[in-house]
Amino acid sequence: MPVPTIIIFGASGDLTSRKLIPALFRLDSTGLLKEECQVVGMARTEHTSEEFRQLVEPKVKEAILASGQSWFAGTWSRFARRLHYVAGDAALPQGVRVLGDWLKNREADPGGDRLYYFAVAPELYTEIAARLGEAGHNREERGFRRVVVEKPFGRDLASAHEVNRQLNEHFSEKQIYRIDHYLGKDTVQNILVFRFGNSMFEPLWNRRYIDHIQITVAEKVTVGKRAGYYDTSGVLRDMFQSHLLQVLSLVAMEPPSQFSADRLRNEKVKVLDSILIPSPGEALASMATGQYTGYHDEKGVPQDSRTPTFAAVRLQVDNWRWKGVPFYLRSGKGMTNRYSEVTIQFREPPFRLFPQRLGHEPEANRITIVLQPDEGIKLSFQTKVPAIEGTELQARDLFFDYKGTYGSLPEAYERLLLDAMQGDASLFMRGDEIERSWEIIDPFVKSLAEANAPKPESYSIGSDGPPSANELLAKEGRVWQKLG
Ligand code: BG6
Repeated sequence: MPVPTIIIFGASGDLTSRKLIPALFRLDSTGLLKEECQVVGMARTEHTSEEFRQLVEPKVKEAILASGQSWFAGTWSRFARRLHYVAGDAALPQGVRVLGDWLKNREADPGGDRLYYFAVAPELYTEIAARLGEAGHNREERGFRRVVVEKPFGRDLASAHEVNRQLNEHFSEKQIYRIDHYLGKDTVQNILVFRFGNSMFEPLWNRRYIDHIQITVAEKVTVGKRAGYYDTSGVLRDMFQSHLLQVLSLVAMEPPSQFSADRLRNEKVKVLDSILIPSPGEALASMATGQYTGYHDEKGVPQDSRTPTFAAVRLQVDNWRWKGVPFYLRSGKGMTNRYSEVTIQFREPPFRLFPQRLGHEPEANRITIVLQPDEGIKLSFQTKVPAIEGTELQARDLFFDYKGTYGSLPEAYERLLLDAMQGDASLFMRGDEIERSWEIIDPFVKSLAEANAPKPESYSIGSDGPPSANELLAKEGRVWQKLG
């Protein structure tokens, strides 16, 4: 069990109180944190440790109750003793000095393992890393020194490359853990288990049997309080560059020779390397964008903003396995439901032997991997409708229900924090992986910024996105799966 000191920069932010501390609290409750493990929050506002505990408690409680777990005040008080607070600006030498003093005097295992979590604004990642490095807090003499970096990691290829370069001046690749919280979700990890832990799906997992693949991450929420950040980002940067491409790479990768961080990530990078980079013209032709009505009324959004809150993108993975199989990705805010899924749409049988039941379109086989919220896997296939006379077909589903089978699933951040403490980087993105993802998304973002680019089409809140998203598939004779 890990005993590191976990230092969270950006302790007063939402991520810390809504995700990180609740995740650590749950790890503690399940006995996965050693007694001596301490958590030090750092931010600029002056607080005592006791005030910090009181500040985060209601938000942690809310997060725990929201996930259906019970709240025990006694368990919290015991956990809260691990929480400490250091006031200071970690982007300045003085701030890191204050932190250094705290560590020198209070660290349970002096000079032992340390996990630095950057839950701060992205422009501070490299500043804080530099200050830690200059003060020698990157040196692994008695224990590890790892940094966990949140997203967004850059806003295009050039800036991501620069963040990597600057981080690498003080921390080696092995010390850097770049978060994509989708990789912490059990259902996302299960994509690999489904493919490579079974023998019956993988032989079919290729261009011979698969017609196309859809990846959808739909959100019901609108941008709300995050409009300031979101308007400078948009759905392509916010969702596609990271979450959707990560899911795609797990769906499309070759089996690694071993289930280890580098072997796994090598295979993911190979998939990303196989994705064709479109010219600006091709990017516009293989994308549909939308903006929900009322987006301009969100606080902090300029009236003339053309930031897309929805996008549908067609990508081609140009390799032996996938040549000619389109990957359709879509994501948006303000949609019907919170719903994420991967659809593996198989080809029609080569010959139609049986008539279809009246009123039921013929449907080819389909595997639907529901990532959230009703986690599960659905296998759709044709059945004979019971009848004394004749043979008519109708598609029916076999469904594996994750929660119904296993109960509640762990939160992504629990898994990721534990893995980072244990030194397993499999579920974190490597520097080259992030850079390649930006290289794929950049042409789509840039083509939208051109003066002659079409404005995102408006769609109403609570819909499935703009009609142009349907046209993107319709022109190739396909349709999106209905949102669950
Ligand atoms: C974040 C994005 O990375 O992922 C948010 O910045 C988005 O805009 C969120 O809402 C979605 O995560 P989840 O786990 O709720 O699907």
